[in-house]
Amino acid sequence: MRICVLVGNPNAGSRTLAAAEALAGRLAGPDDSVEVIDLAGHANELFAWPSEKMDALTGQVAGSEVLIVASPTYKASYTGLLKSFLDRYSAFGLRGVHAVALMTGADRGHAMAPDVNLRPLLAELAASVPTQSLYIEMPKMDSLNEILDDWLQLNAHLLPGRADAKAETVADYAVQILVRLASDDFLAFDDASWEGVLKHGTYHETKNLGVDESVMWGDYWLLDAVDTITQTAPPIAPNAGKDQ
Ligand SMILES: Cc1cc2nc3c(=O)[nH]c(=O)nc-3n(C[C@H](O)[C@H](O)[C@H](O)COP(=O)(O)O)c2cc1C
Repeated sequence: MRICVLVGNPNAGSRTLAAAEALAGRLAGPDDSVEVIDLAGHANELFAWPSEKMDALTGQVAGSEVLIVASPTYKASYTGLLKSFLDRYSAFGLRGVHAVALMTGADRGHAMAPDVNLRPLLAELAASVPTQSLYIEMPKMDSLNEILDDWLQLNAHLLPGRADAKAETVADYAVQILVRLASDDFLAFDDASWEGVLKHGTYHETKNLGVDESVMWGDYWLLDAVDTITQTAPPIAPNAGKDQ
């Protein structure tokens, strides 16, 4: 899959570029390519007609399967630089491209800008924009990885080649639930009088039936999960976890 990063920042090598590249890196699988176009380096030809160089760039962007379109927020919207580049396309020029709108900004004040301004522009060019937009506040750039984690969990499966990402997300949650349930808070293994395996289950809270007890389907799910893991996970060495 070809992933293209298109950055409309008049300053070359910007933080906006870094954020978009980080997202592309996280989306790319081993067989994917990532191409980066930093428009700051092409500003002198933006208004040249005809321009072989610009035609090559617009063709490169239109030929990508996933396009990350990134811009800093300037006056509540994307930059004129980005608009000038996208203005070179004729109608439906980005048909077949899956675009992600990414904008950075000074603070939360213009967080709607990618949805209100950039998304309609991409849709006008017939790009598909299936994911939520990303708006990254500059003071939060230190948390970029966490911001991308959250976004990827909710959105990656909507992009081509990443359908399995949803399954990964569900599997991650299942493991988190299992680890939590396997803690002393929930396991009744040290309570001989407890009738069940998992504590704190509830059968019918409104009717006050079986509240804060064990329920058989909860125990069943836990044991089924443990059974699946013991059958599929690699064997654990006998002394694993013990002090040497
Ligand atoms: C001309 C100009 C206009 C700006 N307008 C806004 C704005 O309206 N809203 C906002 O949140 N940030 C605004 N900013 C701040 C930039 O969006 C922010 O610093 C940018 O995301 C930084 O990206 P960079 O480090 O990649 O250049 C503006 C910055 C400049 C230079």
